[in-house]
Amino acid sequence: MTTQAGPFDVGRFKEVMGHFATGVTVVTAMDGDQPVGFTCQAFTSLSLDPPMVALAPGKTSTSWPRIAAAGQFCVNILSEGQEALSRDFAVSGADKFAGVGWHPAGNGAPLLHGVLAWIECRFVRAHDEGDHELVVGLVDDMGVDRRGRPLIFYRGGFGRFEP
Ligand SMILES: Cc1cc2nc3c(=O)[nH]c(=O)nc-3n(C[C@H](O)[C@H](O)[C@H](O)COP(=O)(O)O)c2cc1C
Repeated sequence: MTTQAGPFDVGRFKEVMGHFATGVTVVTAMDGDQPVGFTCQAFTSLSLDPPMVALAPGKTSTSWPRIAAAGQFCVNILSEGQEALSRDFAVSGADKFAGVGWHPAGNGAPLLHGVLAWIECRFVRAHDEGDHELVVGLVDDMGVDRRGRPLIFYRGGFGRFEP
């Protein structure tokens, strides 16, 4: 791809974007009686009224189409001890829920045990944007566990937040 500045350096783009520190989420839903989920960093609040969030699943994700088809999902915001879980939910085709504690959230989507906060959403729409989709979710319910601290993702690595 070429921009005004010439050929676009995707590696440099990733390196620069990696300097924007974020939390880490696992987006989950039920596909029939099967739990499904994937690790997602591209997540943000979008609107206060109505309450909406946005996330960006890649077009290569095999979990996102199943989550979209479910029509409702849960955004699990990971706490600092959940680095291994975030790596496990990033492996396509793996049995991601093996050994993972969870219970159904109010909308039935898996709420993973030990998360810092969660947001229950209804799938509203997805915009086709390059090699990803921009997904809009309407918030139905949410909760926090005030005892925890967030898992941080920064420059391709995981970290903790020290107030
Ligand atoms: C820390 C971290 C953040 C990630 N963020 C995203 C993201 O924002 N969007 C995305 O599509 N994939 C993201 N991934 C990769 C997906 O988790 C991975 O491609 C997906 O789980 C593949 O499995 P699937 O085929 O079951 O969807 C991230 C992975 C890690 C480890």
